[in-house]
Amino acid sequence: MSKIPVAILGATGSVGQRFLSLLENHPWFEVVALAASDRSVGQKYASACRWILAEPMPEFAREMVLTAAAPEVFEAKIVFSALPTEQAREIEPQFASAGVAVCSNAAAFRREADVPLLLPEVNPDHIALVRHQREKRGWRGCILTNPNCTSTGLTVALKALQDAFGLKKAFVVSLQALSGAGYPGVSSLDMIDNVIPNIGGEEEKVEWEPRKMLGALGADGVELADLRLSAHTNRVAVIDGHIVCVSVELARQATPAEAAQAFAAYQAPLAARNLPSAPRPVMVVREESDRPQPRLDRLTGKGMTTLVGRIRPDPLLHLKFVTLSHNTIRGAAGGSIFNAELLVQAGLL
Ligand SMILES: NC(=O)c1ccc[n+]([C@@H]2O[C@H](COP(=O)([O-])OP(=O)(O)OC[C@H]3O[C@@H](n4cnc5c(N)ncnc54)[C@H](OP(=O)(O)O)[C@@H]3O)[C@@H](O)[C@H]2O)c1
Repeated sequence: MSKIPVAILGATGSVGQRFLSLLENHPWFEVVALAASDRSVGQKYASACRWILAEPMPEFAREMVLTAAAPEVFEAKIVFSALPTEQAREIEPQFASAGVAVCSNAAAFRREADVPLLLPEVNPDHIALVRHQREKRGWRGCILTNPNCTSTGLTVALKALQDAFGLKKAFVVSLQALSGAGYPGVSSLDMIDNVIPNIGGEEEKVEWEPRKMLGALGADGVELADLRLSAHTNRVAVIDGHIVCVSVELARQATPAEAAQAFAAYQAPLAARNLPSAPRPVMVVREESDRPQPRLDRLTGKGMTTLVGRIRPDPLLHLKFVTLSHNTIRGAAGGSIFNAELLVQAGLL
């Protein structure tokens, strides 16, 4: 079978680089174009991009010439978008209207009622919204979104608890890595020896996005899950991997051992289980009192697995625990690629 031609928008950025790296030997997709801003258009990728990943820049990309992010410039069936939100709002619909499937990391369309906000191991059925989207907007293509990188691991863990015990409330505190702010991101003088207790717009995303993904798909779209969330979000001096400390009130009380069993036993719905980027396993429960840790654990399951640890009783709500998820792999590029695989498997490309 010949591979599906794909392109990356925002290919030079922090998430764009992850896309290149993860797509290098992808069994279904072949990168045919790389796009960036006017600053980079016309330059070879290797000269325009300040490569920040530990693994080498993929050979196939070095000599590729960066193009503008416009549908008439290249032919691809899927574009992976790592554009800043403002640019995504303008550019992504142009591709969708031109018949291209856009798998986006940006926040621009996550809240739209006809746009799926997807974690295939949580809510693969929400992909059906693509049909409503095409009818409503007259697009031949579509826009699919993945959640904010802090909502990602949190929502996977909450899904296991929702299925096993029901959920009422969650109070969460994030410790978010620097790569989540893009490149060059936060200045070193602001960050070394420091924690920044505010990330613009992040708390609102973390308090809303899990409710859409944990909600039920009905005839009129997604009914938000009846779950109250309160979030504090913090930037810390870690390169990759977001920690979230979570306290939850369940609908039916559970012991830490029962919760650990629910996390460890959680499996993705069948539709998402065998896709190339599916996390294997979906979740890992660490028993040690000081794990998960970003530096040691973020690459579990090639960076697609959600880690959970420190499950214990909570004196205010029912239980508390810690989650860890790789923000530029599961929380960004790997997540969009997983969504694109779901779209192809569902016959919706
Ligand atoms: N980093 C994470 O962990 C993470 C997680 C989830 C979601 N996201 C989201 O993913 C998106 C990308 O984040 P990032 O961290 O990779 O940002 P970044 O490092 O700042 O990269 C931005 C990219 O967009 C390109 N760009 C900027 N303006 C453009 C324009 N007008 N037309 C075409 N390309 C343009 C830049 O190209 P030049 O190099 O030419 O300027 C660069 O390639 C954002 O929406 C972010 O919120 C990030």
